[in-house]
Amino acid sequence: MLTALSPAKINTFLHVHQLRDDGFHNLVTYFQLIDLCDELTFDVNDSGVVRVDNPTINVAEVDDLCYRAAKLLQPYADDTAGVSITVAKNIPDGGGLGGGSSNAATVLVVLNNLWGLGLSQKKLLQLGLQLGSDVPIFIYGNSTLASGRGEEFIPTELSNLLDNQTIIVVKPPVHVATGKIFQSQLLTKRGDTGKIRDLDIARLITCTDNDFTPVVYSLYPEIAHAAERLERVSPAHLTGTGACLYTVLDDVKKADTIIRTLDDCRVFVVKALRRSPLNEFK
Ligand code: C5P
Repeated sequence: MLTALSPAKINTFLHVHQLRDDGFHNLVTYFQLIDLCDELTFDVNDSGVVRVDNPTINVAEVDDLCYRAAKLLQPYADDTAGVSITVAKNIPDGGGLGGGSSNAATVLVVLNNLWGLGLSQKKLLQLGLQLGSDVPIFIYGNSTLASGRGEEFIPTELSNLLDNQTIIVVKPPVHVATGKIFQSQLLTKRGDTGKIRDLDIARLITCTDNDFTPVVYSLYPEIAHAAERLERVSPAHLTGTGACLYTVLDDVKKADTIIRTLDDCRVFVVKALRRSPLNEFK
């Protein structure tokens, strides 16, 4: 039996560029890993069967991202390779924190190890992208600037100054449907392709704007209302397509005020991580 931590991310900023021929948009974003983690327990066996127990997520086992990740690996394993995976959830779903994507990445990396498959990181990144645009960053395992669907990473030695900072993540009481936000007529897309030039990196990593903000606030007034109250204490930013908001605290005492003021929301006090705890399984 082995337990692995599966971290969440926030998008410190998110720019939406043009729609591509494959139906996805080019994005430019900074993926900041945070120490809000789910816990996945793996019990490998020689039954050839994959079982996933993910009690708080309301989807059929065959649609569960952990199950689908394990099934993607099975063709590379012996016929007898089996596993029982149990997911203990701390990361809220429908929040723009990448919880499901992170769990899928954890399954790919840990089972590659436990089943002794020896697949390269490049191969795991390809498999991950088949499961969702946010899966590759969690396999990559480092906070990073990214473009494309979010799978092209731009390594930089420059810091976005968030390492070890205290961040508050607020989850308003609503789920956001990502597809609906991308397809909204209210979304303003940037005209260029979203290719990152070297000279833009230093400016980009300090950005906090999210192009989905006006769309999300107008389609989900509960999120706008939470942002308004958070903003009175500390600057509020949207992560992903929401529903979560984040703020970087200049004074940790503000955490109590935020928890009191946003009493209808879930509030998480987290730290920014430069690297993922998943890297220990590579
Ligand atoms: O890849 P993922 O499953 O997260 O995408 C969900 C939906 O979000 C896609 O079907 C697409 O409509 C939209 N999307 C997009 N461009 C991206 C990522 C997602 O248009 N880069």
